[in-house]
Amino acid sequence: MRVSVVGCGYLGAVHAACMTEVGHEVVGIDVDEAKIAALSAGETPFFEPEFGELLERALSSGRLRFSTKSADAAGSQVHFVCVGTPQKAGENAADMRYVDAAFTALADHLAPGDVVVGKSTVPVGTATRLAARVAEVQPGATLVWNPEFLREGFAVQDTLHPDRIVYGLPEGPAGQRARAVLDEVYAAPLAEGMPLVVTDYPTAELVKVAANSFLATKISFINAMAELCEVAGGDVSALADAIGHDDRIGRRFLNAGLGFGGGCLPKDIRAFMARAGELGADQALTFLREVDTINLRRRDRVVEIARQVLDGSLAGRTIAVLGAAFKPNSDDVRDSPALDVAARLHGHGAQVRVTDPHALANAARIHPDLRYVADVKQAVADADLVLLLTEWREYVDLDPTELAIQVRSTTIIDARNVLDPQAWRNAGWTYRGLGRP
Ligand code: UDX
Repeated sequence: MRVSVVGCGYLGAVHAACMTEVGHEVVGIDVDEAKIAALSAGETPFFEPEFGELLERALSSGRLRFSTKSADAAGSQVHFVCVGTPQKAGENAADMRYVDAAFTALADHLAPGDVVVGKSTVPVGTATRLAARVAEVQPGATLVWNPEFLREGFAVQDTLHPDRIVYGLPEGPAGQRARAVLDEVYAAPLAEGMPLVVTDYPTAELVKVAANSFLATKISFINAMAELCEVAGGDVSALADAIGHDDRIGRRFLNAGLGFGGGCLPKDIRAFMARAGELGADQALTFLREVDTINLRRRDRVVEIARQVLDGSLAGRTIAVLGAAFKPNSDDVRDSPALDVAARLHGHGAQVRVTDPHALANAARIHPDLRYVADVKQAVADADLVLLLTEWREYVDLDPTELAIQVRSTTIIDARNVLDPQAWRNAGWTYRGLGRP
């Protein structure tokens, strides 16, 4: 099928390459000229495992091209809208300007029978509004809402083999025709037996924010338990293992530590609260405010422990920060807890040296005031304190004995609870986790 993908960020670029991989002919469209030039040359504008090879394969198949011109969407039967919906400055609500611009750009290029597929995470009610716009410019075209659940770091696998597919369809024959088109687009994952949920627009929109709210709640729940463990002398990791054995609870997303960040969870729960307020249902989501608060309190806690272990003063102390990305296997620093903690320590007068395997360039754009170094060795040289803030494999695998020789003081805060406390203590370190004795 001929497919266009509007918006070539983490979601759209991967989606475009994956659609090519499963046999479609794809054009990826974005207004960012530098991004389009890079993607066209087979260069990945962001770090995402497996994406480089996939992009190369897709480009050399001759079935994938990139363009800055929305007119190049003409001729495609399916148009995916994959643009971002960031948090509005100074507000909880989502900024819809990129979604609206994408629909404006597509308007002149739709033909009868085309299917427009919204994948962006949007406030519930958006699809109904946009369907009316599509009907106005091209009555023969149909809008489908098809949320995306990919995780950064696993984007390629999650796109090729999603754990479920959701279609939000309009009622009537147009919806059924659009469904048949999407079934063809997703023939490969559907043939693998992927669960398919077919529903209406509002449910499809809500599925996405409900899923992210649940995940955020799970993380804040275990972080609240970490706070309890700290005052009661318990161990939150053992607690998570024990409750996680209950299938109804499950162990995944119960890792206590510095909390969640990134381009989705934080802004999605805030936008969901804002939308609930507009719909007069703010009470239903009041708990998400608490989820957000617990999450942000993790950052305060790490700064507080740093101050404690440095005998009450951060000013002038040398602190090695391992990790800037919001999570490992990503170079994304949007709402990164790690980078936020580094910036706060710097604000308190500490000499902070930040390292990360892939996120330094992005981090430097947001926080040019911080000092960045290429590797762990440079970060920890003569450090008074080491902070592990993003659990990259290479940090989890650090040898405590080897590292002990390089620092000034053998004190580490493991803000992701990923190190073996006993092994580090045996090597002479003062080890502090979060919610661990
Ligand atoms: C998330 C959703 O998982 C995905 O389905 C959706 O499409 C987009 O948002 P992503 O932002 O890539 O994906 O990251 P995710 O792996 O969910 O992690 C989010 C944050 O939670 C990270 O900062 C991570 O460090 C943190 N986290 C995750 C924890 O603190 N503890 C955990 O147990 C799990």
